[in-house]
Order: sequence, then structure tokens, then C-alpha cells
Amino acid sequence: MKTLVLSENAPDTARVAAQIIRSGGLVALPTETVYGLGADGLSEAAVDRIYEAKGRPKDNPMILHVTGMEQVEALCHHIPRCAYTLAEKFWPGPLTMILPAKDHIPKRTTGGLSTVAVRCPDSAITRQVIALSGVPIAAPSANLSGKPSTTTAQHVLHDHDGHIEAVIDGGACRVGVESTIVDLTQEPAILLRPGGITPAQLRSVLGSLTVDKAVTAELSADEVAKAPGMKYKHYAPQCQVVIVDGSREAAARYIHRHYQKGDRVLCFEEELPLYRDCDPLSYGLEADVQTLSAGLFAALRELDDPAVHMVYARCPVGDGVAYAVQNRLKKAAAFQIVNGEEQL
Ligand code: TXA
Ligand code: MG
Repeated sequence: MKTLVLSENAPDTARVAAQIIRSGGLVALPTETVYGLGADGLSEAAVDRIYEAKGRPKDNPMILHVTGMEQVEALCHHIPRCAYTLAEKFWPGPLTMILPAKDHIPKRTTGGLSTVAVRCPDSAITRQVIALSGVPIAAPSANLSGKPSTTTAQHVLHDHDGHIEAVIDGGACRVGVESTIVDLTQEPAILLRPGGITPAQLRSVLGSLTVDKAVTAELSADEVAKAPGMKYKHYAPQCQVVIVDGSREAAARYIHRHYQKGDRVLCFEEELPLYRDCDPLSYGLEADVQTLSAGLFAALRELDDPAVHMVYARCPVGDGVAYAVQNRLKKAAAFQIVNGEEQL
């Protein structure tokens, strides 16, 4: 199959993409977070094609992308007031809400759960495609399962060229990490995945919020993940990744002591001069965490190379968006963290 590359600015793009979606095909769509691999979320056959293209485990449910709360009302019941307030404040934007699913949503989409994930993305072209196709669009992150997410159309082509009908090129994603997921079917609400909407922003609406254990720690084999996707290995280059915590100087001393040829250092731009001999790769500025979230997945994809032996990674401290970056990097490192200060 030839994969069409559609420009977000071409006049026909939304119509062509919506036509593909309506006929059961796959279109990779830009969003502010990461590119999604989109299909008709109400068609089992179309959703099956997403699972096949990604190599995704079948119990890992999809997020339905919608144009707003009117569409959510057709998909969910018992919608709490706070869902409307969150949508008013943060949609379109990087927030996914888990709500009770109506019966007509295919089990393929919900992974057999009684709930469904919904989100309105902040990309005008993608919202147009949803509106024109007339269905909610199921769209997981467009990467092959387990690999770092795709934040450019080129990343999508690298993973899926020849296997999907089209990709809409909307440039590089602004946020760069996947949406915040909050489960509103429980009281208090539960943060299942941190992202561009921060815990503090959620608490400003919800009052209280608990954080699912899978956000900060590795689940043991017998624990059940509330977001099924959180139990799988994620975002990881082929080689081992170790996070080196501690001050700039302590981390540099630790890394220089352990570095061997073939290793790489994933660091902040400010730290590049410290690692001249260690094949460093910067993913953004420590002083501007937004650049780190926007650059993380492109960097992890570059490090996903059989020639790389091991990666020493620097991770931002703090809450807000830094919290989402920490979560993705810890998962890429399978929670392997050393403290440069303690190793002196
Ligand atoms: O930013 C994003 O959310 C991107 C873009 C494309 O919108 N999409 C995305 O989808 O990250 P995906 O499939 O890679 O991640 C969705 C996560 C998975 O961990 C899945 O298990 C969880 O959402 N999820 C989906 N439905 C759920 C449900 N009903 N209850 C709990 N978790 C759910
Ligand atoms: Mg994903």
C-alpha cells in the first residue's frame, strides 16, 4: 500500500482523511501531544487494524478523540459535573477523561472495560477530520507498540510507511508527551498518566486527586494496572537506559567514571560541554521544561539504535510538566535510577 502524506494546510486534506476513516482505513493524525494512529472508533474491524499495525496487546484500550462534550454525551453515561468543568478549562488540550461507556462502543475499543477514554485534541486539522468523518476517532500514539512515541510525520513514516493509508503532516508536536489521563469514575478522581495538564491544574477543579501507583513505580507481576497500557514496557530504546540523579557535577563525575565507548549521554543542553567526550545528545533546556517534553521522544528514537550500548540520562526535577517527563523517562529506564551524589 502507498501511504499518502497529506499536508495539514492543503485544502483537500480533511476531506480525504475523513473519507479514509469512514471507509475503515488508518490515518495518522497530528495532535499537540504526539501523533495518533486514527481509525473509526465505533468499528471493530477498523480498530483491529490499529492493533495489527502497532503490534499492540488487545487488552490495551483506545482513547476516543472527539470535538467536544456534545460528542462525549453520545458515548458516555453518568457524566459528572466536573467533567464539563474540566472540558471547559482544558479542552481542546492534552487531557483525557475516563468515563462510564455506553453499550454501543465496541469492546475492541474499550479493551472489554465498562469505561472509555475521551479527549478533544488541540489540532484544528484533526478536529476537522473528526467532525467530517462523523465518528469518534480511536487513536493511540502512532509508534509501534513499546517504542518511543512519534512526534513528527517522519517518525510515523519510519514506523508505518506502506502499512497505513495516510499521515497528515502537521509538523512537530508542541507538548511532545501524551495527554494527562484522569479517571473520573472514582471518587476522588485518579491520575493514571501525567502529561501537559498538571496535577495542580486538575486539583484546581477537582479539589482532591489521588495518583495511581503505576505513575511512579514499577508494578509487580500480580498487580493490576488501572490504565492497562501502564503495565507494558514503554518508550524504550533497544539498549538499557539508566537515569543519573543528583547535581550537575556529581552526575557528570558518575557518568565519566562509568562511560564506555558505544554509550551515549542524554542530557540537558546546558550540560553538553560537560560530556564532550561521551557522545552527548541534548533533548532540551533544563531551564525550560517545555523544550524537554517536546524533545524527549525524538531523542529516545535517535537512541533506539543497535550501535548504542547504554544510555545515561539526566532527568528534570520538579512538578508540573517535569512530572510527565520524569514518568516517561523512568519508564524508558525501567525505573533504573542511580544517585550520582551517593556514588562518590
Ligand atoms: O496524547 C494522547 O493521549 C495520545 C494522542 C494520540 O491523543 N494518545 C495516546 O494513546 O497516548 P495511547 O493508546 O498510546 O495511550 C492511551 C492510554 C493507555 O495506557 C490505555 O491503557 C489507557 O490510555 N486507557 C484507555 N482507555 C482506558 C480506560 N477505559 N481506562 C483506563 N485506561 C484507559
Ligand atoms: Mg502509547
